[in-house]
Amino acid sequence: MTNNIFYPHKEIFKHPEFKNMCEYEDKVKEFEKDYEGTWAKLAKEKLTWFKDFDKTLDESNAPFYKWFVNGKINVSYQCIDRHLETKKNQAAIIWEGDNGEKKVYTYLDLYKETNKFANLLKSFGVTKGDRVVLYMPMIPEATFAMLACARIGAIHSVVFGGFSAEALKDRILDAKAKIVITADGAFRKGKPYMLKPVVDKALEGVECVEKVIVVERNNEDIKWNERDVSYNELIQSQSSKCEAEIMDSEDPLFLLYTSGSTGKPKGVQHSTAGYILWAQLTMEWVFDLKPNDTYWCTADIGWITGHTYIVYGPLAAGGTTLMFEGVLTYPDSGRAWKMIEEHRVNQFYTAPTAIRLLHKMGANEPKKYDLSSLRILGTVGEPIDPPAWKWYYEEVGQNRCSIVDTWWQTETGGHMITPLPSATPIKPGCATFPLPGIFAEIIDENGNKMESDEKGLLCITKPWPSMIRTIWGDSERFVNSYFGTAKKDGKPVYFSGDGAIYDEDGYIWITGRVDDVINVSGHRMGTAEIEASIQKHPDVAEVAVVGKPDEITGEAIFAYIVLKNSENLGEEVELIKALNNIVKRDIGNIAKISDVVFVPGLPKTRSGKVMRRILRAIAKGEEIKQDTSTLEDPSVVEAIINAVK
Ligand code: WT7
Repeated sequence: MTNNIFYPHKEIFKHPEFKNMCEYEDKVKEFEKDYEGTWAKLAKEKLTWFKDFDKTLDESNAPFYKWFVNGKINVSYQCIDRHLETKKNQAAIIWEGDNGEKKVYTYLDLYKETNKFANLLKSFGVTKGDRVVLYMPMIPEATFAMLACARIGAIHSVVFGGFSAEALKDRILDAKAKIVITADGAFRKGKPYMLKPVVDKALEGVECVEKVIVVERNNEDIKWNERDVSYNELIQSQSSKCEAEIMDSEDPLFLLYTSGSTGKPKGVQHSTAGYILWAQLTMEWVFDLKPNDTYWCTADIGWITGHTYIVYGPLAAGGTTLMFEGVLTYPDSGRAWKMIEEHRVNQFYTAPTAIRLLHKMGANEPKKYDLSSLRILGTVGEPIDPPAWKWYYEEVGQNRCSIVDTWWQTETGGHMITPLPSATPIKPGCATFPLPGIFAEIIDENGNKMESDEKGLLCITKPWPSMIRTIWGDSERFVNSYFGTAKKDGKPVYFSGDGAIYDEDGYIWITGRVDDVINVSGHRMGTAEIEASIQKHPDVAEVAVVGKPDEITGEAIFAYIVLKNSENLGEEVELIKALNNIVKRDIGNIAKISDVVFVPGLPKTRSGKVMRRILRAIAKGEEIKQDTSTLEDPSVVEAIINAVK
């Protein structure tokens, strides 16, 4: 913690609602005084309801909270229709392709494209509550598809394009999807890549899927199977009018699979009204999004950041969202800055891992471009280290922009802990304070608030509108995963899985996951999932995976492996290759093992539990300070240290 360094930014704009910390505190107090009333007021003011809700919050079946009970609303209507009167010709989406090609869709265009897609889905019998899986590149059709689902009440589940066929299959089966939407492929670093063959493989033996809608993006030859249909062909004849389905506040809007500390990925289920309220509100509060702003979030729509802060938030707030197909370092490390200059981007939102890479590849690149349009810079996904923060602030933001270090999760739907631009005095690498309405607290398991400098559990002690509603098909796991760790005043509260510390000024510093979840380039992965995959190799007797600090990716995958027969070690290189291939097959390219160490045994307690703390310490190259006397075989620690050397 770089506790005493403040970077009070020079104000180049006034936030309409939070000009200073007093206004922030007033809003926090308003929620403290009348929690439900304040949320109700915001929901009425910010959203367009088909029918008003009769109760703000129903806690009778906690932790299955219900918000804005019996309200009727439609998310695509929030994002499109209600803006048509004033913003028909305003750009809703600006898209830039890998090769620099540009397309602009106004709100009227978006209305038409979404409706056509909605009608296409309807023509295949998709109705309210059906699940539609998207396996898509970063092209505008992905956004149309998401909004089209929302329009007719279908539940979308977007699967990141970096996941393997196996991983895609698991998600399709778990959601029992009726439709899969994909593209033949797309472009990355000047080269075409394919998605459709992955879908073909994923769908082998899968019966629930009735149709596969294929957007022909890169015109590569693909195999057309019986259930495949061409979007490009069928979309032409669809009507551009489709009535928005009347949805209940609590109807599921989407599922998004994410990794937990144990078992299979979980289908995080989000709601309709509460989700869209917070998506819009945080766009206004945290990014100060104004109608004439061009806002750019570099995430992929396969992650929650892409859902809330490329699609739903900016559109609900009536802004212009920039969507980018390519990678920030292609054709060179000036690409991002060039795009900011060309599109006059006002808010730029990216991940620390990208900032570190851009810094490393071209520390002086930002200077070569006109970045004067920038007002707010955001980061998300992992703690940002002070050197990266400093470069972002000084070189990209030119000591002029506010940095918002936003802490949140797939499960929270939107930002939870973050500075408010122009109001919160910032400390580099610190997420600072909870947003008004969010009761984030660092406590122990019994709800006692931690003293400053004492690490505790980061919990949200009151329900909030955009929170996860359940895990799809497994409500028991939902309760256990999130409400089984900490209590406050005897009531189970939401535990994030992260540890955190208050500093002496009451600022919140996130210290990272305290469970067996690792964060590689801002991608969340369960060590259990990776272990289960490695375990499939016939030579592997036992495996334990931990995160190891990495200069660029934040954490890297470090695997300790016990072989059934250590004589195999002659073929080490081949074996490591084979292990990587298994993980690539089961999870995808995003789960690349960075270190493999073959060890004679794992450090286990007498009851057989692997002591991961020791393995984490060894991976970090730290001295072992823990007491190892409770281990079944303390000598194994020495042997592992030697193997790592
Ligand atoms: C985990 C959630 C939220 C969208 C991207 C990731 C870590 C997220 C920060 C931050 C420190 C952060 C946490 C969290 N995390 N933002 N600003 N500072 N850590 O979503 O895949 O659900 O991962 O990412 O560990 O629990 P996710």
